[in-house]
Amino acid sequence: MSLAVRFQGIEKQFGPVRVLHGVTFDLAPGRIYGLLGENGAGKSTLMKILAGYERANAGELFIDERERDFSSSRDAEHAGIVLIHQELNLADHLSITQNMFLGHELKKGFFLDEAAMRDDARAALNDVGLHKNPDTKVRDLIVAEKQLVEIAKAMLRSARLLIMDEPTATLTPSETQRLFALMARLKDAGTTIVYISHKLDEVERVTDEVIVMRDGRFVARAPTDELTRQQMANLMVGREVSDMFPDKPPLPDDAPVAFEVEGASVPGWADGIGFSVRQGEVFGFAGLVGAGRTELFEALVGLRPLSAGRVAIEGKAARLTNPREAMKHGLTYLSEDRKGRGLHVDMALKDNLTMMTLERYAHPLIDTRAERDALKGAVKDFGIRTGNTSIRARMLSGGNQQKLALAKFLNPDPRVIVLDEPTRGVDVGAKRDIYFLIHRLAAEGRAVIVISSELIELIGLCHRVAVMRAGELVATLGMDLLTEERLIAHATGTH
Ligand SMILES: Nc1ncnc2c1ncn2[C@@H]1O[C@H](COP(=O)(O)OP(=O)(O)OP(=O)(O)O)[C@@H](O)[C@H]1O
Ligand SMILES: [Mg+2]
Repeated sequence: MSLAVRFQGIEKQFGPVRVLHGVTFDLAPGRIYGLLGENGAGKSTLMKILAGYERANAGELFIDERERDFSSSRDAEHAGIVLIHQELNLADHLSITQNMFLGHELKKGFFLDEAAMRDDARAALNDVGLHKNPDTKVRDLIVAEKQLVEIAKAMLRSARLLIMDEPTATLTPSETQRLFALMARLKDAGTTIVYISHKLDEVERVTDEVIVMRDGRFVARAPTDELTRQQMANLMVGREVSDMFPDKPPLPDDAPVAFEVEGASVPGWADGIGFSVRQGEVFGFAGLVGAGRTELFEALVGLRPLSAGRVAIEGKAARLTNPREAMKHGLTYLSEDRKGRGLHVDMALKDNLTMMTLERYAHPLIDTRAERDALKGAVKDFGIRTGNTSIRARMLSGGNQQKLALAKFLNPDPRVIVLDEPTRGVDVGAKRDIYFLIHRLAAEGRAVIVISSELIELIGLCHRVAVMRAGELVATLGMDLLTEERLIAHATGTH
């Protein structure tokens, strides 16, 4: 019933670029493995080979001692192997049920058995704790809900080997908790699980053993309880990682206000929110998922209706009707939904980078050489790891897409920067680079607003942190008051 895997000398290249160099290791049945590695290390690629989405160029894959070479994901699913994708893979215009049964429709005679599919979908949603009508269109779900649909969909396939590629990146702590309980049940039932995550505390909690990859190679494995988080991080990066957070840049008392919001209301999401951020300040937004932080900022930049409220940027009143308009006023907003609103994944890296500032490169023909130079600079500044810079954004690893999105939104050189979950899916080394970058931006006199679900990140980065709960701004804590306990108490209303 459980299933054992052996990778033997797996090689993979995309065009001229080799991304896996003879990976060899095995997985025993019925255990939970953490698969660790920096962005671009090859974790997702290796797992896509196992699950039939990609084919190896060389090497062998053994499932229960038998050599296999899956030609499609269906093929792998028949063997009991199911992958939950890192980049959500749902069809937006279809309902939850339709997505869950896409290509696996239940039939009654010649006809689709709609009722049976809906019932199964409802049961699977219930398993993962998503209380939504299965007829809901996927486009009407928020990112975390889409992630839960992906997980529920995998549950329906009754996997013997389940691969979860950063499943908790968008989930709340309680959703994560429920997912871990589900994983424990699956393990008891004999399912082998591969769990990919950059959240080392979760890896520590939920896995039996960790496997570390670096630059397309297997580098180490050990029982989870024999490694500290620090040791895991060092193995991934191949050197000591220390001082995650730089010293906060000094903030002079007379620093002028850079961004001011008054009485901002977003129907159904936020009510009468006011705050101001000074030049050189890093200002955090904490809150549970659903507290309205993302929706507030989406409305402030014109991505959804703002029913009331005034905005001023560097002292001048501004009406921001869309992100482009906001950028002209000097404000840029990096969305948490990098696939939907951050990047154009089917476009080249350089076109993504220069999209918001195209006028800079047009005189009047586009100066592609200047564009290429800009990309070269961004690859270096943001540590984007890719063997080939002429690929489309989709082909970057998840974490490297996030770095490209950051580069794109900072390319216009804004005065006020709003970053929504800037380190989601980013490895420890790159996280540290982003933290240093945020402080550099602030030290240069910009105002930086960071929305994050990682409290440690807010505490380590920010001069002040505002806490939202159910659409209201309930507290703003200065540096000397920033502790996890206080932030949680305000966010949950148990203060
Ligand atoms: N279709 C493709 N074409 C070209 N290069 C690709 C393609 N798919 C992946 N790559 C490259 O393969 C390398 C490994 O990517 P992979 O997605 O496996 O990394 P990862 O370990 O999952 O990283 P992350 O933690 O960021 O998700 C990266 O350099 C990536 O750009
Ligand atoms: Mg990946």
